[in-house]
Amino acid sequence: MTTSSAPGKVYLFGEHAVVYGEPAVPCAVSRRARVTVERRDDDRIRVDAADLSLDGFTVTYGDDPGDADVDVPGDLVAAATGYVDGAVAQARDAAGVEGVGFDVTIESDIPLGAGLGSSAAVVVAGIDAATRELGVDLSAEELADRAYRVEHEVQEGQASRADTFCSAMGGAVRVEGDDCDRIGDAPELPFVVGYDGGAGNTGELVAGVRDLKETYGFADDTVAAIGDLVRQGERALRDGDVGELGDLMDFNHGLLAALGVSSRSLEAMVWAARDAGAAGAKLTGAGGGGCIVALDDTDATERALEYTPGCESAFRAELDTEGVRRE
Ligand code: PMV
Repeated sequence: MTTSSAPGKVYLFGEHAVVYGEPAVPCAVSRRARVTVERRDDDRIRVDAADLSLDGFTVTYGDDPGDADVDVPGDLVAAATGYVDGAVAQARDAAGVEGVGFDVTIESDIPLGAGLGSSAAVVVAGIDAATRELGVDLSAEELADRAYRVEHEVQEGQASRADTFCSAMGGAVRVEGDDCDRIGDAPELPFVVGYDGGAGNTGELVAGVRDLKETYGFADDTVAAIGDLVRQGERALRDGDVGELGDLMDFNHGLLAALGVSSRSLEAMVWAARDAGAAGAKLTGAGGGGCIVALDDTDATERALEYTPGCESAFRAELDTEGVRRE
């Protein structure tokens, strides 16, 4: 039996604009997915994902997840089996072993589909655990690349390298197209996350921004402005200037709202955080619902969010400098 874990992430800056070649800075946070795998005698895959939904589920299938023997909502199963299937395929490929089956147990404290990189964390930890179970050790860079290929396939080409690279490497990272680097000297970042209990549809939100760009010149300018702001944010990060980082997060949120990807609950949480004294606050990820991230080293933002209409939960999730790890 082999267990690995990998962190989720928040976008400090740059989501959506990254789709058009601008840089983005995602940061790994101290919320993890843990994946345990045990080799089976047959070629089947059994997934036990107690924490991936409120009810939890167990699913067993052979080569085709369509044959899954389950009693839970189909889209949830399709999502979970797609990522697990992809992770297993990558592990088989890396180890050069065909047809080996696994019992897979997923435990995660990262809200699903809410802009915190839950699927990337599951895929990174899953490939690491399954390859090690087969006696092969992959570098974090290779894990990131293989996990990206899984996300790219499951999400039908709509994935940047941000989530998987950040989850594999940990810390603050810079992503621009296919170039990914760790930002070595980031300061401690006291992130607070507010979660509205929902999730936006990433494909629809990305398509909406694309339509806006094709129709209005301001949307092109807005994407370029986010790119400028990210470059300034990188300098503030290297200088350890948390006050400026907060201001830039506020500006980034405003630009994302102009692109139409905020929502009433995200706005309520962002303003609650600012009113509570956070250095800055913005939505994280695709938007439309899900999570906001704020910078606050006191407990004021977390407490204020707990009383904010539309906020289901709030928690601290500091920058995690450790990426994928053995458990
Ligand atoms: O919601 P998330 O964490 O999957 O982030 C989506 C970020 C986008 O820039 C909107 C899309 C992408 O693949 O980069």
